[in-house]
Amino acid sequence: MKSKGQIRIENWPLRNCRSRKASHKQDRTRALYSEILRDEAVARLNELGKVSDADGYLERTFMSPASVRAGILIREWMEDAGLTTWVDSMGNLHGRIEGINASAQALLIGSHSDTVVDAGIFDGSLGIISAISALKVLKSNGKLGQLKRPVEVIAFSDEEGVRFQSTFLGSAAIAGVLPVSALKISDKSGVTVQDALKKNSIDIAEESLLELKYDPASVWGYVELHIEQGPVLEWMGFPLGVVKGIAGQTRMKVTVRGSQGHAGTVPMSMRKDPMSAAAELIVLLESLCKHPRDFLSDCGNCNEFTKESLSTSLVCTVGEISTWPSASNVIPGQVTFTVDLRAIDDVGREAVLYELSNRMYQICDRRSVSCIIERKHDANAVICDHELSSRLKSAAYTAISRMIGEVQEEAPVLMSGAGHDAMAMSHLTKVGMLFVRCRGGISHSPEEHVLDDDVWTAGLAILAFLESHM
Ligand code: GLV
Ligand code: MN
Ligand code: MN
Repeated sequence: MKSKGQIRIENWPLRNCRSRKASHKQDRTRALYSEILRDEAVARLNELGKVSDADGYLERTFMSPASVRAGILIREWMEDAGLTTWVDSMGNLHGRIEGINASAQALLIGSHSDTVVDAGIFDGSLGIISAISALKVLKSNGKLGQLKRPVEVIAFSDEEGVRFQSTFLGSAAIAGVLPVSALKISDKSGVTVQDALKKNSIDIAEESLLELKYDPASVWGYVELHIEQGPVLEWMGFPLGVVKGIAGQTRMKVTVRGSQGHAGTVPMSMRKDPMSAAAELIVLLESLCKHPRDFLSDCGNCNEFTKESLSTSLVCTVGEISTWPSASNVIPGQVTFTVDLRAIDDVGREAVLYELSNRMYQICDRRSVSCIIERKHDANAVICDHELSSRLKSAAYTAISRMIGEVQEEAPVLMSGAGHDAMAMSHLTKVGMLFVRCRGGISHSPEEHVLDDDVWTAGLAILAFLESHM
């Protein structure tokens, strides 16, 4: 591989075509399906990015009105690409083409259509749209029927877990790892997953949830294309990367209860203030995650590999906090906050959680407040399938070569700190992922951006991958 900076492809293919005649350039762009894979795909991403439950920012959560509107659009685009569509009883949208042999094992390609609050327009949507666009290219050149196995695009209904704090409601149901108890989880207004589906005329009972599980023997593998959400590809000057694995994650809810009181009358020495306790707990979390070695010296399960891997991969976040009754002149009675903790090594993640909980309880005892720590979501780290990853690497290579001619470099291989539906799907079948470069590594923000030409390259990579199934 050449050293960093030797293949800076931010502006290609225009830069590479600059010296050629305009008509030659047009032929080339047409041959690379720029109208479908770039222009239309970018227009669709922008259109989908406007479908929001909020005014002024993007937010689409499980089964919300905007999610339903987004589903209608995506369904139209799937049908436009020649796919047969349906919505399943967890609100996942499917588009399928049988190819030459309807009973062959199917290739599933997907990502999620829900978003975080104040989201960017590419997270999730890019994977869905690039798959639909690549299939539309095959339809437009008459090759859709030549696929040697069924190909099914799935727009999963919940990956971010914003509404119910439990991620992968959609993909986990298809993989058969969503417990039936998930139907009873409530959102902040007391609406359960089951109610939210029912409001959209989807009646789901325990048996129908179990029926959603795909037969592993009917599936060949699962592929997901996603924006990188980090800075590595941009730093390397490469538009696509192959994912070798996804960090494991745990999400928790911590509730701290103390004595609610008057801000002006209770002496400082007599307070049982859950807010100050929560502040100390959060600072503890930060220290532990910055310097795990300092906290895990007595950890019997942690070998040198685990400690080293934690030192480089452990990340922890408190992203949501609420207090009751939340008034400036009241010592709160209760503070609740979330913890999101991720690491590549599952043993290490468990060791950190054990240490963290012990120390949290000690702090709460010392401060005479009560503390409840609930684990809301756990997903083990996933290693992507070797053969699938090398096929994706070839597809990325083909896409980049088609764009700029001969290239020496192979697509870089990287780990994902972000969670993806591929984690849930790994319980059903082998999984592989491609990452697409994004500006400044920014994601989960309206600043999220992918170059139009990188959207194009992403579509070409999925197209090349599909062509290897002909
Ligand atoms: C999903 O985007 C996650 O990693 O939180
Ligand atoms: Mn996300
Ligand atoms: Mn995502």
